[in-house]
Formats: sequence, structure tokens, C-alpha cells
Amino acid sequence: MNGLLLVAAGAALAATDGPVIRSAPEPIPCVALTFDDGPDPVTTPQVIDILRDAGAVATFFVEGRWADAYPGIVQRIVFEGHAIGNHSWDHPRYTRTSMGEVASQAARTDRAILSAVGYAPALLRPPYGAYNGAVLEAIGDRTVVAWSVDALDWLNKSPARIVARIERDVRPGSIILMHDIHPTTVEALWPVIEAIRAKGLGFATVPDLLAGRCTH
Ligand code: NI
Repeated sequence: MNGLLLVAAGAALAATDGPVIRSAPEPIPCVALTFDDGPDPVTTPQVIDILRDAGAVATFFVEGRWADAYPGIVQRIVFEGHAIGNHSWDHPRYTRTSMGEVASQAARTDRAILSAVGYAPALLRPPYGAYNGAVLEAIGDRTVVAWSVDALDWLNKSPARIVARIERDVRPGSIILMHDIHPTTVEALWPVIEAIRAKGLGFATVPDLLAGRCTH
């Protein structure tokens, strides 16, 4: 797909930066929790357990190298009703990578996910949220998902600070960035879910959020 068509597709979804999705197209009474950089063999199953016990859903942007190593966790993500996205093979900064390598990273990761669950994901989040026009061309016809709330959970290894930051910044239709590879993020997750529900907001996967559907 060429750049113009990408821009047109993004405009139709609104709440975007060019073709990149940052939140729901319209304010709706739910948010999308997103977890990057896994799956991790210890912490990702803990995140999935908490989501199950809380009756919530999320979207996992996985690295191909970890999806390839832990296909059973990728299967569990999908079987339990969560969405999955492509977060590169091994997390290079795409704006400092050759475009051939960007395309190869995206394709290898699609193949790892396809081999685990039987389909390649439509969603992609570039590492560090770093992209430019050339990167968007190289990754082609995928829905590129950024975020509107950054938990900074990789920096603040404090469950209380993670919860407070999300509580302060969350809005109807937010896409919230977290990482399912830190024990402190796992510890923060239950109170995060409670804080979001206390604001009268529920949960949806990114595809449901973009379609205006609050499901949980
Ligand atoms: Ni990442």
C-alpha cells in the first residue's frame, strides 16, 4: 500500500497521527490495555491470569524471537480472547535500521505468530514507537498502533507510581502502554484495572476499541 492510501486509511480511523492509531476514533467508555516486549515465560502467564480473574482483555505486542521461543504462551493469549500484534523480531529502532531489515523484522515476526496461532496479526507497533514515512512504507499494509497513555512501567519499577500515572492520564478510548516483562507491572495490574473501572471505564482489545465496541 502506498503512503497516500495509508494516510487515507488512518484519517478514516481518526485520533491518529497520520496513519498511526493512538486512541479510539471517538471517546467510548472503555480503554485498551497493551503489553509490549513479551512473551516472557514467567511474567506473561501471570498477566494473563490476572486478566482472566479480573474479566478484562488486552492486546499483546510480541517480539518475534520470544513468540518463536514460547509459542504456547502466544496460543494462550489468543485462546483467552486477547489480541496480538507484531513488535519486531528483536526490538531494533526502526528509524535507525535499513528498510530492508525493517521489512524482514516484521515478516519474520508475522511468521512466528502465524506458526503459533494460524494467522498473522494485522496490528503492528514499532519498537519505541519510532517510525517515519520510510518505516511506514516498509511495514506495508498493517494497522500501526501507538498509545495515548504511557505507564512508564519500564522506568518506574513501582506499582504505586504505575497506577497513579495511569489514573491521572486515562481517558475514554485511551490506548495504554505497559510491558508484560516486569514483575512490578504484574503487581500493578490488578490495582490498574480497579482504578480504570472506578472511572466507569471497561476494556476492549485494540481491534474492538477501533470498531467502537466495549466488550469487558
Ligand atoms: Ni518495546
